[in-house]
Amino acid sequence: MKLHDKEENRIKPMELNELNEYFNQLSQSKVHFFKTIDSTNTYAKKLLEQADNICSLNKNVIIAESQTAGRGRLGRKFYSPAQTGIYLSIIYVPDEKITNPAKITAFSAVALKRVIERLYKVNPKIKWINDLYLNGKKIAGILTEGFVNYTCGTIDAAIIGIGVNIQNNAEIPQDLAAIVGSICSNDNSITNARFIFEIVNEFFKIMSENSDDVICEYKESSFILGTKITVHPVIESTDGIYEATAIDIDNEAKLIVKLADGSTKALNSGEVSLHSE
Ligand code: BTN
Repeated sequence: MKLHDKEENRIKPMELNELNEYFNQLSQSKVHFFKTIDSTNTYAKKLLEQADNICSLNKNVIIAESQTAGRGRLGRKFYSPAQTGIYLSIIYVPDEKITNPAKITAFSAVALKRVIERLYKVNPKIKWINDLYLNGKKIAGILTEGFVNYTCGTIDAAIIGIGVNIQNNAEIPQDLAAIVGSICSNDNSITNARFIFEIVNEFFKIMSENSDDVICEYKESSFILGTKITVHPVIESTDGIYEATAIDIDNEAKLIVKLADGSTKALNSGEVSLHSE
């Protein structure tokens, strides 16, 4: 029966006890769990805005089983239905001020890739700067938002929002179906609680690893290096859309592109698409 097939495909809802047990292992962490919320990133931002001392929010993790207004990069929506994906935001308050949020996104992508490989035995690839792809389709996205201290003008904290599609969703809007995929895991032994915990744990681990090594791993997992791409600069930029070849990613996670006239540019924002997309 069709309905039965669909339900079998669905991952289990979050077990709160299990989630708490996992997060008890990660010192100073605190979990905020919602069955549904507008956006875990928006909630994290509110927590930071209301805090007397934002340092106390380091390692707070906001988790939701579904989002009604999930947000992606560049003002896009992030489709966040219940039961087929996980949605979380990590609050990160480092000792030093944040100078390059893009680098945090790149590190998060490597952390997420490692966990997916370890748990699900598949090898996703990274599309600069924040997407994970498997079999040509996007399976995860990362939205890093800086929390600005308006008195000092510094970025004192980051919110790392992560959304992963674990199973295909039968009700996915048609316009997304061609580009959005999932890990497609049939392994029911991996609970959402475990997956989320491993992601958060790996994130805090990777942030203390050697930066050059992590960037190297990022580059090795990139599927755009060496290919022809279309660059879509952010709206504020004076550049229009242009064609280029992705030739490198530097130690600040900037994408180095070569233009038709032989000149190069280092990008730290904007969006790229492959010629096949
Ligand atoms: C993208 O694909 O551009 C980034 C998507 C990021 C989605 C995650 S889901 C959890 C967190 N809350 C949000 O509203 N967005 C991020």
